[in-house]
Order: sequence, then structure tokens, then C-alpha cells
Amino acid sequence: MDTDRLLRELTDFLRIPSVSTSASHNADCRAAAEWVAGELRRLGCREVQFLASGTHPVVWGVGPEVPGAPTLLVYGHYDVQPPEPLDEWTTPPFEPTVRDGKLFARGAADDKGQVFCLLKAIEGRGGRPPVNFRFLIEGEEEYGSRVLFELLRREPERTRADAVLIADMAYIAPRWPAVYTTLRGLCYAEISVRTAKSDLHSGEFGGAAPNAHEELARLLGRLKTPDGKVHVPGLYASVKRPSKVELATWKRLPFREGEFLKHRVQAKALTGLKAYSVLERLWALPTFEIHGITGGFTGDGAKTVIPAEATAKVSLRLVPDQKLKTVERQLVAAVRRFAPRHVQASVTFLHGADPATVKVTHRAFQLLDQAFREVVGRGTVPARAGGSIPVVPALGKGGAPVILTGIGLPDDRLHAPNEKLDLKQLWDGIRVFGRFYELLGSMGVG
Ligand code: BES
Ligand code: MN
Ligand code: MN
Repeated sequence: MDTDRLLRELTDFLRIPSVSTSASHNADCRAAAEWVAGELRRLGCREVQFLASGTHPVVWGVGPEVPGAPTLLVYGHYDVQPPEPLDEWTTPPFEPTVRDGKLFARGAADDKGQVFCLLKAIEGRGGRPPVNFRFLIEGEEEYGSRVLFELLRREPERTRADAVLIADMAYIAPRWPAVYTTLRGLCYAEISVRTAKSDLHSGEFGGAAPNAHEELARLLGRLKTPDGKVHVPGLYASVKRPSKVELATWKRLPFREGEFLKHRVQAKALTGLKAYSVLERLWALPTFEIHGITGGFTGDGAKTVIPAEATAKVSLRLVPDQKLKTVERQLVAAVRRFAPRHVQASVTFLHGADPATVKVTHRAFQLLDQAFREVVGRGTVPARAGGSIPVVPALGKGGAPVILTGIGLPDDRLHAPNEKLDLKQLWDGIRVFGRFYELLGSMGVG
């Protein structure tokens, strides 16, 4: 493997600041899409198209025809999360840097580095891949995948395949590759409160006028009890507990709660429903998180003002068998119920995703397991994921098995400063997927 060249090419991809959640990066998202399209053309794709959006195109590719071989749909995303806070990065997020065998950059693990693996694993076969490839590499995953959703609703035949492969997650621990059986869903919203026509002098009015921040804080406080239960009426009604068998298998995974607290969370204590194991809290229970609060005075110095408006960005993670639409209604009802009459409260939904469940019994999973065993010395363990990939339920609708896996490590710091990908994971990943494609091609599916 020409690792120098590969590293240079991945560096070019990572240099593009394709932050999908901010319109100021629209041109960069388009540039990242061009990069992907260029790769697909170099792989000999018969068809390479930009679909559905001028600013964040879905890159669609159809690989060379391989008669008699199964069709594999590869999904991934070229967009990344915002890099802030910038001053916490040791080297800048869009100047990829290798330190200590790790490649540091926004997108190194989520998901550009992994998309890179999936594509580079096809190279070097004289343009004759072992399976019929279809590619859907989108640019809005980190923003809810609205464009791709619409596209798949209009053109569901795009997902027709014998299997779908997604590498957008991590090993469960170093040297422990995994396949994921569920993803959590997401309901992302802004909760705003207005308490007066405009801001007021806190000396003239303080003591007698309502304060938007105070009302918002109280409202948010009521949405979760101190012991960690999300206080949205009805929320838990459809939550199914994992079976005893599944819970027992989690006990055998290389996961220690104490170590998770000390090395991953790096806080003083874990929170949440103490009656459930940490893995159950991360994988099989809904959450409510506050991401940020705006409004009032946050500039330098001091200003004595009573804010009239305040907004919180919040999200709930959903688990099988919760439904996004239901949870949206439940959140609106809870906010209405908990806001006092003199407060005007509103909820705006920014994006969302239904939770996903995949069965991992299909033959294709055994082939991936074998590829990992051959390359890294251990097969895949089934696990669940706490994160979300909005289009997964839609990709599975045609009945093809959706293989959720990844070559990252749990300490890759997705969405956080100093995101990285271990180079060993990268090189192994290319070999693993290359071997998987071969096995799929020679053994077929079904
Ligand atoms: N790759 C992640 C999803 C993920 C992370 C799955 C960790 C499993 C473990 C993906 O890029 C992501 O961050 N998704 C967002 C979706 C949202 C913005 C709609 C998420 O989970 O917050
Ligand atoms: Mn991702
Ligand atoms: Mn992500």
C-alpha cells in the first residue's frame, strides 16, 4: 500500500472545511462533493452525478458493471461538524497533521476518513471491482439529511441493492470491531420564551417584571428530573427494554463504567438513571440535552437588563420503538404544560431522525466478520450505538441488510476539538473493506 500517497490524498479531502450547518461554508461543501466525484470517476464509475441540491449535493455513483455479482450500496457523508472552539485544537482543524501515529483534523473519523477507506479499498484492481457498486455520499448528514430524505422518498429505487454498507462509527474498544444493531433517533428543537415586549431596566423593573432567562431555566429544569428521567409525558411509553439475553451480552463487552468516567467522560461523576447500566443509558434509553442558551446580555462587561426573550437549543435522543413525530408532539405538549400562563413559549424543530434497528443475521454480516477476523484478528461484536444517522431507516426500506460498522476508535473525539483517526485504523480499514468486497463478490449474497 502506498501510504504516503494515500495520506496526501486524504489530507486534501480533510483540508476542505465542509461544515454543512453553516451557509458560509456552502462553497466548501460543494468542493468536498467535487472531491468525492473525482474519486468516483477515477474508480471507473459509469455514472457520477450531483443530485438534489446545488449547495450540498448528494454524490451518486454507479460502479463498473460486474455481471452476476451482488450490488453493494455504499453510504457515507462528506460534511463535517463545526470545529469550534478553535483555541482548543493543538493544530488547526483543517490543517491535517500527523502526531504519534494519529491524523488530527475535523472529519478525520467522522466521516471523511472512513469514506476514504471505503473508496480506497476498491482501488488497484485494474478498474474491475468485485461487486456492483452504488454510492450515495451526502453532504448534509450533520444537519439532518433533509435533501437525501426527500430524494429517497421520490426515488426509492436508488437504494435497491443486495446490501448497504455504512462506515460511520467506531470499534467498541481498541482491537474490537463491531456491527451495530440499533441507532438512536434524534429530535432537535429550539425552545423560545418571551416574557415582555422588550428588554427592561433591572433597577426600574426588577422585582416586578418577568425575566425570560429565569422562565426558560425553570422550564428546562422541569423537562428532566434530577435523577435523570426525561419529564416529557408519554415519552417512555413505547420504549422497549433490551432482552435479558442482549443485556447479558453487554456485560461481556470490553466496557468498564469506571474507565468510561475516568478516561472518556473525564468528569467527577456520571449522571442519568442509576437503575440502568451505563450502556443501557447510552444505547437504549431516550435523553434530553441542552446544547446552548442565547438571549439577554452576554457581551463583555456588565449590563443591568431584564431580558424579554431567551432561546435554548435542545435535543432528545430516541430509541426503538419511539417515533420522531410522536416525540415532537409530546415535547410541544410538555412545553405548553410547564410554561406559566404569562410566558409565551414556542418550539421550533430544526431536524430529526427516527431510531433505526437492523437485524445482523444476513449472510453479508458473516462476510464482514470474516474480513475483520482475517485483517485485525478479531471478528465483529454486535453492539448498539448512541448516535444517529438520519437516513438509515430509509436505506433499509427496500429490504437490503444495512451493515453499520466503522473503523474509528472510541477516543476519536467526534464533533469535539482534536478529532483524530489512528493511521493503523485507516490502513487496516482499507484492507478490511477490500477483503469484504472480495468475499461478497466471490461468495455472493442470499
Ligand atoms: N457518525 C455520527 C453518528 C454516530 C456517532 C453513530 C457515534 C454512532 C456513534 C454522525 O455523523 C452524527 O454525528 N450524526 C448526528 C446526526 C444529527 C446531526 C442529525 C448525531 O448523532 O448527532
Ligand atoms: Mn458521521
Ligand atoms: Mn457526526
